[in-house]
Amino acid sequence: MEQIDGINHAYFMNQSLVTPNLILGEKVYGEKLLECEGQEYRVWDPRRSKLGAAILNGLTNLDLSNDSKILYLGASSGTTPSHLSDMVPDGLIYCLEFSPRMMRELLRVCEKRKNMIPLLDDATRPKKYLNLVEKVDFIYCDVAQPRQSELFMENMRLFLKDKGQGMLMIKARSIDVTKKPQKIFREEESKLKTHGFNILEKIKLEPYEKDHLGLLVEIGF
Ligand SMILES: C[S@@+](CC[C@H](N)C(=O)[O-])C[C@H]1O[C@@H](n2cnc3c(N)ncnc32)[C@H](O)[C@@H]1O
Repeated sequence: MEQIDGINHAYFMNQSLVTPNLILGEKVYGEKLLECEGQEYRVWDPRRSKLGAAILNGLTNLDLSNDSKILYLGASSGTTPSHLSDMVPDGLIYCLEFSPRMMRELLRVCEKRKNMIPLLDDATRPKKYLNLVEKVDFIYCDVAQPRQSELFMENMRLFLKDKGQGMLMIKARSIDVTKKPQKIFREEESKLKTHGFNILEKIKLEPYEKDHLGLLVEIGF
């Protein structure tokens, strides 16, 4: 087993990316469970999780620790949030999702994982949950919406602690199906820079996801 350089509680085992299972014996999305020296691990499927794909493609500067607090925009049924929950065992993840159907599935995961807090709300209206979410160390955004850079920046300004980080997962086709993905990536990146954000790392998600780009960012000073 090998620790992934610089990423809290993420490892390579049997040629798979894994995280230590916070809830012994429990699977979240049918993933394999592996054991090593008395600890159970969950295999992290990069085709089901863009963050898993980004880590396998070399993301290195993700600054998480055991007690990190995270705001997750677009938590869906909890696949990626559950791996983050393994990585920040003493922290908290505010899992925001606006679809009641996905929320029902997410609730099943949050009931078991006490560091995941479900919030049925709209990421385009952050002032509505201003009193429910504290300042966080990391904001992850995967809502696959045309104006997701704008809502990501607004949430970053409202909820990020000093020296915190954010990660924006851009799916080119969700922004404009008629434009070339490279052009969309340049435009989204330029929006972030114009609004005072620094790009720390850029990661393409191929071969796991086509025409997707992950941007790790911080607020510039
Ligand atoms: C691509 S899926 C997220 C998958 C998830 N990040 C994972 O890796 O497990 C996008 C999710 O964002 C949710 N979503 C889209 N727009 C949203 C908004 N404005 N506020 C909250 N959730 C939103 C959708 O309902 C959907 O569940």
